[in-house]
Amino acid sequence: MPASAPEPMIAPSILSADFAHLGAAADAVSRADWLHVDVMDNHFVPNLTLGLPVVRSLRQATDLPLDCHLMIDDPDRWAVGYAEVGAANVTFHVEAAADPVGTARAIRSAGAFAGLAVKPGTPLAPYLDVLKEFDTLLVMSVEPGFGGQTFMAEVLPKVRLARQHVNAGHLRLFIEIDGGISADTIEQAAEAGVDVFVAGSAVFGAADPGAAVSHLRELARDGMARSAHAAGRL
Ligand code: DX5
Ligand code: ZN
Repeated sequence: MPASAPEPMIAPSILSADFAHLGAAADAVSRADWLHVDVMDNHFVPNLTLGLPVVRSLRQATDLPLDCHLMIDDPDRWAVGYAEVGAANVTFHVEAAADPVGTARAIRSAGAFAGLAVKPGTPLAPYLDVLKEFDTLLVMSVEPGFGGQTFMAEVLPKVRLARQHVNAGHLRLFIEIDGGISADTIEQAAEAGVDVFVAGSAVFGAADPGAAVSHLRELARDGMARSAHAAGRL
């Protein structure tokens, strides 16, 4: 029996918040675990959001750890800057990186966690060795670029594969899921083995974003408990 049950982490995505009041958005979810910040460059994805100056300002506006998800070309050049301005976790896409290991090492040297993201159609198996250099794995459960899309349950086998490698001690990382997470979908993701749940519209589209975070956490806890029982761990 584990010393304590695993605790789900909730990372509200400010992509669904009011960009003119990001400090207030962070305050509204102060009981969250991380604040998810989607950086898009109009090249890797067909949408444009924010960059280093906004992350630097957000760092001053909230105590929440900033979970920066870079949906940008050439992360080998740009990712380390997000660690340098104080992001807690800097995740970039394997599809965009020429040197994922070198970039992960640079991010870690600058004091942040390094994260690797995979789009829904990108297999995980070829990157299991590379993932030894990372602290988080972000499994996209929608095509990156926009909030409010429908959850793609077909990515969950990648979560299960990563969970097996973490449980076996081959990898040490947080498994994060991003896209379409809501009260309707979070339990199946938790059962598959997710640790960190990104939710944009389900949090900032709710009348009370703080309450939405708490509700999602409860549901994730239920899903995790079921998977622990199923695996005979409890
Ligand atoms: C999409 C972003 C997500 C987005 C999720 O490319 O990476 O973080 O904010 O939004 P929802 O939770 O509404 O699917
Ligand atoms: Zn994201």
